[in-house]
Parts: sequence; C-alpha cells; structure tokens
Amino acid sequence: MVSGFRMMFDHPATEAPAAVATDPAIRLTGLRRRFPGAPAPALDGVSLEVAAGEVFGIVGRSGAGKSTLIRCVNLLERPDAGRVEVLGRDLTAVDEAGLRAARRGIGMVFQHFNLLASRSVAGNIAFPLEVAGLPRAEREARVAELLPLVGLQAKRDAYPAQLSGGQKQRVGIARALASRPAILLCDEATSALDPETTAEILGLLRELRARLRLTVLLITHEMAVVKALCDRVAVLEAGRVIEQGRVFEVFTRPQAPTTRRFVAEVIGNAVPPGTLAALPPPGPGEVRRLLRVLFAGPHSTRAVISEASRRFGLDLNILAGRIDAIGAEPFGIMALAAYGAPAAVTAATGWMQGLGLTVEPLPEGEG
Ligand SMILES: Nc1ncnc2c1ncn2[C@@H]1O[C@H](COP(=O)(O)OP(=O)(O)O)[C@@H](O)[C@H]1O
Ligand SMILES: [Mg+2]
Repeated sequence: MVSGFRMMFDHPATEAPAAVATDPAIRLTGLRRRFPGAPAPALDGVSLEVAAGEVFGIVGRSGAGKSTLIRCVNLLERPDAGRVEVLGRDLTAVDEAGLRAARRGIGMVFQHFNLLASRSVAGNIAFPLEVAGLPRAEREARVAELLPLVGLQAKRDAYPAQLSGGQKQRVGIARALASRPAILLCDEATSALDPETTAEILGLLRELRARLRLTVLLITHEMAVVKALCDRVAVLEAGRVIEQGRVFEVFTRPQAPTTRRFVAEVIGNAVPPGTLAALPPPGPGEVRRLLRVLFAGPHSTRAVISEASRRFGLDLNILAGRIDAIGAEPFGIMALAAYGAPAAVTAATGWMQGLGLTVEPLPEGEG
C-alpha cells in the first residue's frame, strides 16, 4: 500500500516539484482575527507573500500579533476572515484530511521547544512520524538521518531534562523537519536562548535552509535575528504590517518610527547621550546642521567626508558612525554635525547626494 503520506515522506524535499516561479510559497490575504472579548483585533487585515526558498522575518513587539499570524499559516489558529494559501492551496477551504496532509508539508519550531519530557531525543523526533502512522523501521531510518543533520548523534537516547537549551531546540528543529516539509515556521525559536546559543541555532537554520531548500517564515522580537538570517522582513504593529521590504533596505532606510527603533537596537549608531548638548554653537555667519549620512555603495567614508570639508569649506564633526554589512552588502551610517555658511552646507549635502549617498537631517535624540 502506498498512501499519500508515504509518498510524501519518501520524496526528498530537495526534489520536491518546484512551484511555478511566480507562485509564492505562502500567500496571506486580508487576515483578521479578534479573540472573543478582546478590545482590539490581534490581526487587523494582514497580507503577505513569502517566496519559495526565502527566509522571511516578521518582527514586532510583544502582543503585536506575531504568534497569532504564524499560527494562521498552518491553521493552528483559524482567521475570522482572509485567505491562507500555502504552495498554491487555499487551506481555509480544504477539509480535515486535506489540512492534515498540508500540515505535514509545514514544520514548526517553538520558543519553548514543546518536547515530551517522557520521550528520548529519538522518541521526540519520531513523534510526528508516529502520529502520521509511519512504520517503525522507516521512523528509525528517518531519525537516523535527522540526528546528524542537527548535530545530535551522541544524544539519541538522552531525555529533554538532560539537554541544554540549544540541544532542546535542535531536537525541536529535527522534529519539525521529520516529515520533510518544504516550509518551516519558527515562532521565536531563539528567544529562550542565550546569545551564544542563539548564534549557533541561527547558524544551523541558515545551513538547513540552504541544504534542504526550505522556505522559512520566522517571527521574532529581535532585529538581530532578522539581520542574521532573513532576506525580507515585515514589521507588525497592533495586528497590521506597517513596513516591509528587503532586510538591507529596511535596515538602511527604515521609514516608520517603530521600525527605526527596532533597527537602532542592532545598528546602534545612536549619538551618545550628552554629545549633542556638548556641541559648540555655530560661529558668526555659520549654521550647524545635524545630518545622517548613509553609504550603501563603494564609497570610502573618510574620502567623502574630507573632500566635502575641503570643497565647501565646512567643519564636519563625526558624532557617531558604523560600517556594517547585511549578508554580503556593506553599508555605513554616520551622524555628522556640519558647520559652515548656510549655502555651503546645502551645497555639500547636494554634492554627497550626487555621489549616491543618502543625506537626511538627523532626527534629534536619534542616530
Ligand atoms: N488565545 C488567545 N485568547 C485571547 N487573546 C489572545 C490569545 N492569543 C493571543 N491573544 C491576544 O492577541 C494579541 C496578539 O497576541 P500574539 O499573537 O501572541 O502576539 P505576539 O506573538 O506578537 O506577542 C495579544 O493582545 C494577546 O493577548
Ligand atoms: Mg508570540
């Protein structure tokens, strides 16, 4: 007998039939969810598309609706309104059997691991396969493949209480991958871990994503996770997407105040407290302008600053700065105090913009 799930399990994820290039792996349209008695909706009309093979991050403060949103993708939470399409299939329209089959194609990793304390590592990883009715020999074969994938060969027979947080999450990840899903959902997968273990688990997810060609939708309240792992990001606030885009764009050109605050946590180019108050006043006939300068190309910071100073007769005081990269894309952000004749400051700003730099007034109290 070859049942539907057997065929699915036998089929390596790397050979899964590629979705049509224009088909997103996940398409959410107009999702709404209001919990009974709640003063405001948890989801207030969310639409998102996650392309096949990308890592898409959703970031937001506690209570923003992130968990509700990610739980809608596999219908652990049923939206009051809206469509949930996964790999081209409208999950809100399928029956229970169809939903069970679809869920086998969607793995999920949780913040608090959700392991069964009475089962060994191998027993936890095999659990979803057991629920799906896979015969013992095949379960064991699959567990034997998964253990090295997450680096837990030596812990096969250990129990959750004997594991570190990082090891527990490795079990959680292996269990999520047991049915060879094409899509992995991560709900704050590293939020219960210390920074070093977080880096380790993010590294593992990056590796698995490439090796298994997974589509990953992750939610987090930490922008550092987005920076380390994601291709695109959406910012969720009060159940609405307030901003989304490529991670590089959102980090270098955040628009909404909430996004700016999130980005500042990681980019950390804020002007040190007291610096602005300690700045000298402009001299006679001069102005003092605070500028935020973004380099997102091949410019060398020092050359542009010193040349602007020479060409336009300005004093340029660097208040804060950072050179960083998102993936392989470098960028630099600086906070400057420019002193000089008003026309010279304006001309220098235009000259730098002409070189492709982004120059904006520095918002007071921000970097
Ligand atoms: N099962 C539930 N019953 C009632 N209210 C809920 C439930 N789950 C979440 N909420 C509420 O919905 C809002 C969004 O919650 P959640 O999606 O968990 O946010 P996040 O994951 O971003 O912290 C919060 O106000 C929360 O209290
Ligand atoms: Mg949550």
